[in-house]
Amino acid sequence: MTERAAHSKILILDFGSQYTQVIARRIRELQVYSEIVRFDIAANQIVHLEPNGLVLSGGPASVYDKGAPLGDPQIFSLGIPVLGICYGMQLMARQLGGQVEFSARREYGPGSLHVAGRSPLFDGLAEQIDVWSSHGDKLTALPSGFRAIARTENSDFAAIEDQDRKLYGLQFHPEVAHTPRGKEILQNFVYHICHCSMDWTMGSFIEEACARIRRQVGNEKVVLGLSGGVDSSVTAALLHKAIGDQLTCIFVNNGLLRAREEEMVQRVFGENFHIKLKYVDASERFLSSLRGIVDPEQKRKIIGKEFIRVFEDAIVDLATDHGAPITEHEFRFLAQGTLYPDVIESVSIDGNPAQVIKSHHNVGGLPEKMHFELVEPVRQLFKDEVRQAGLQLGLPKEIVYRQPFPGPGLAVRILGEVTPERLSILREADTIVQSEMEAADWYYKVWQSFAVLLPIQTVGVMGDQRTYENTVALRIVESQDGMTADWVRVPYELLARISNRICNEVKGVNRVVFDVSSKPPSTIEWE
Ligand code: XMP
Repeated sequence: MTERAAHSKILILDFGSQYTQVIARRIRELQVYSEIVRFDIAANQIVHLEPNGLVLSGGPASVYDKGAPLGDPQIFSLGIPVLGICYGMQLMARQLGGQVEFSARREYGPGSLHVAGRSPLFDGLAEQIDVWSSHGDKLTALPSGFRAIARTENSDFAAIEDQDRKLYGLQFHPEVAHTPRGKEILQNFVYHICHCSMDWTMGSFIEEACARIRRQVGNEKVVLGLSGGVDSSVTAALLHKAIGDQLTCIFVNNGLLRAREEEMVQRVFGENFHIKLKYVDASERFLSSLRGIVDPEQKRKIIGKEFIRVFEDAIVDLATDHGAPITEHEFRFLAQGTLYPDVIESVSIDGNPAQVIKSHHNVGGLPEKMHFELVEPVRQLFKDEVRQAGLQLGLPKEIVYRQPFPGPGLAVRILGEVTPERLSILREADTIVQSEMEAADWYYKVWQSFAVLLPIQTVGVMGDQRTYENTVALRIVESQDGMTADWVRVPYELLARISNRICNEVKGVNRVVFDVSSKPPSTIEWE
């Protein structure tokens, strides 16, 4: 999974902190490649990976817990700089002979850090900075060779170092926004202590990724299921740049797409990029298998299964020898837009909230019996990096910055049965939501904004007539990663415009309600 690269690299040992990915992103923002590995990675494995430095993440455990995650103590004698954060610092100190005192009382929240003496870690910083902490246990005696370089009200050892061995520790979290100067601390560690160069750029990533793709696939053919979402779109553009016509994309219209989605995808990829694109209109097939189905899980399962069948049929269709057995198609490789957060092996440690919420969605599903080898050229990237790569590859903003859209499409936004009539109502309402969000400059500021068609009819009045029509719910949420979310306080005027337009323009709707629930306890999609 992990491979050597020609660029600088920081390895982050994950002890189960909810901020591990944040550390990785902060370092990548410094244009230095970072990669998350398990806390128990062996020292010789680390040597093999040739990192410039190591960061030990925080974690929910106490070093005194029975099952506390312990790293290989040899990592401190490799001569590679180490920065331990919170639990990472306590563990380092303890493994090197220091004293950590168990404390049932947590220090949680903002504090003031007083820098004492000069340390390369605090270069360029004032003597006092705001920091954010969240820890129970406390370091009470330093291991030999270490000295304190900063203190807080609660701790004389809020930051420690052993310059000779290039070992550093912070009791607070430099990676979170509540430590405003944290970025500079990480910068000092990465540039000045680990001597990393700023060589992780999207330009260099694209070059390397293309070379890697060519190495992997040679002259073979690759197929990619293109959904029009940012991940599969960037994957398509990247593969096309690397191997041109060896790539064929399959775009399945499942009949559950937003208005004119199929036109847009064909225009961008077929006409602009000249990517070989097979368009499969399977709307009938999906809609008939959904007939009479109201249970959300059943809908999802039917759509997932149908997708695999349609995709397999499309590949067999593309094969030169029509009617060839399904295992003998001409594509050896299947490309997927898997992202970095999907491949990080999660460390399951009691008390880590990130583990409990961990996402349940996987997109589509693979045609297993077709024996593909996978090509996953963006599996090293975080979402924001995929977007940058997309822009650099020439994808339009409407694709690069589009909001996430669920694989099962509008089916999970139509509560109750999915019928052509109800789809058409929802599509019209959805188009109004999107166009008003864009016009008001809100579309790109939120995570998602969409309409949901409820299985409820209510009484209304139109002119002098009584109406008994459908209800549309409006969902507008902000989120970092879809795992938690909050509803967005958009201006009332915007809500009013959307509501008026839907009631006036969408036949069959006489009421619009606004969803004011956060996730948890609600989810973003209604089904
Ligand atoms: P929920 O509804 O669980 O959704 O809060 C979190 C995020 O995931 C999207 N979503 C999906 N994406 N396949 C996907 O590719 C799915 O089946 C799926 N279901 C939900 C949802 O739009 C939100 O961004």
